[in-house]
Amino acid sequence: MNAQTLSVPAAIRARRTTRHYRPDPVPGELLDELLDLAVEAPTAWNMQDRSIVVVTSASGRRDLPNAAFGQPQPLEAPVVLVFVAETAAWRAENADIAELAGRNGAWNADFTAMFNSRKEFHSLQQRGLTRENAVKNAMIAATYVMLAATSLGLSSAPMNGWDPDLVKKAIGINDRPDLAIAVMVAIGYSDATPPHPGRRPRERTIFTERYPSS
Ligand SMILES: Cc1cc2nc3c(=O)[nH]c(=O)nc-3n(C[C@H](O)[C@H](O)[C@H](O)COP(=O)(O)O)c2cc1C
Repeated sequence: MNAQTLSVPAAIRARRTTRHYRPDPVPGELLDELLDLAVEAPTAWNMQDRSIVVVTSASGRRDLPNAAFGQPQPLEAPVVLVFVAETAAWRAENADIAELAGRNGAWNADFTAMFNSRKEFHSLQQRGLTRENAVKNAMIAATYVMLAATSLGLSSAPMNGWDPDLVKKAIGINDRPDLAIAVMVAIGYSDATPPHPGRRPRERTIFTERYPSS
């Protein structure tokens, strides 16, 4: 859609957390493309147990800076995406997921039966990991968004510094204990060129076959 779209490797190398934005709005078509790419992110069992609340209105964005301890990104960026982890989605009616995958020829009867059993989700629940599972899925979608944004000429900032109760209140889910905020991502145009803060040498973070003993 954009002649200057960056490749995935180029976007990975170019992306920087950007904390200041111009007020220019993100064109609707571009935001749509970004959201289409976000929902292409994989989720365990294709459960799609994460959603994105797109906050663009001035009134909608008024409460987020307070929730984010006064950080400038949600105040300045024209778009803030709130990634919601749906920790109980696996218990809900999910026949549409299996039906679509079957129609698309992606799942056979055995896989569909495994999906319908929710065996893995029951195991996660027993181990207290359903929230972690949904948050993982939300974080992958957020990562897709940040890379797609860079590729499409936009800047972004992931944010974990916020009060979850205030963020939930701002997007109208403060009465939903089954929903958790995974991350917020500010999106917009910026004149800032944040320097790469650097990464530790690979030998500090990449190991062969086994994690080194301390
Ligand atoms: C999950 C997550 C949460 C973050 N939360 C914040 C935040 O609340 N505020 C902030 O200024 N930066 C936040 N950052 C940005 C990091 O500080 C930044 O990614 C890191 O310094 C590396 O810089 P880079 O993104 O430009 O490579 C967050 C990053 C991640 C991955």
